[in-house]
Amino acid sequence: MIFNVLTLFPEQIDNFLGFSIIGRAQENGLIQLNTVNIRDFTDADDKYRKVDDTMFGGGTGMLMKCEPVYEAYKSIKDEQPDTYTVFVGPKGSVLNQEKVKELASKKSVTIICGHYEGIDSRVLDEIVDEEISIGDYVLTGGELASCVIIDSVSRMIEGVLPNESAYTNESHMNGTLEAPQYTKPQQWHDRKVPEILLSGNTAEIEEYNDIQSLYETLIKRPDMFDKLEITDKKWEKLLAFMRSL
Ligand code: ADE
Repeated sequence: MIFNVLTLFPEQIDNFLGFSIIGRAQENGLIQLNTVNIRDFTDADDKYRKVDDTMFGGGTGMLMKCEPVYEAYKSIKDEQPDTYTVFVGPKGSVLNQEKVKELASKKSVTIICGHYEGIDSRVLDEIVDEEISIGDYVLTGGELASCVIIDSVSRMIEGVLPNESAYTNESHMNGTLEAPQYTKPQQWHDRKVPEILLSGNTAEIEEYNDIQSLYETLIKRPDMFDKLEITDKKWEKLLAFMRSL
């Protein structure tokens, strides 16, 4: 999969995504990351390479101009005509695992990062397929948001994580949160690993984790729990577990 990121700060993206799992995925050719510096597409005669200007109609701060953004976009679009273009900004629909999976099915995604007060709306209206936000708060620019998208989408791509269960069993994949997890030692301070997890009985462990996952969701994300359809049998087990606390 190819990710193109149009930004004024390509180093932020390259640095963040150059390490660990996503760095290796790039080395192994599972994902390709092209960062494009929007400033390279300013008017060559402009010795200041100006990317922004004041706003019409007043308003404080500077806005990124249409032309450099458009030319940067065209440099990608001409090579990858099917690329799916995303603008990251606080007005977009909020990213969730469903959207992450959907983006992971694309061959090429181009992410446009705004900075300062944002980007002239006209160029966004012309080139953007979808606006995505990473949450209901405002960042200083889209760079962090694009890293969040690329990280979460890349790990859905086959081969990026060591095995598929690494992502099919985890939080948000089926509308629930993952059960608590433990490693050695079996006792830390006065806290013991639940006995059942040491039993080696995979069917019982799976059933136990299933109920733990429901409990975790109920306590930490009641909004997600409300949306679940739970069988009577699972309800009984969940209630039995809660009575045992
Ligand atoms: N840029 C500024 N705020 C943002 C947000 N919440 N999500 C994505 N991009 C942004």
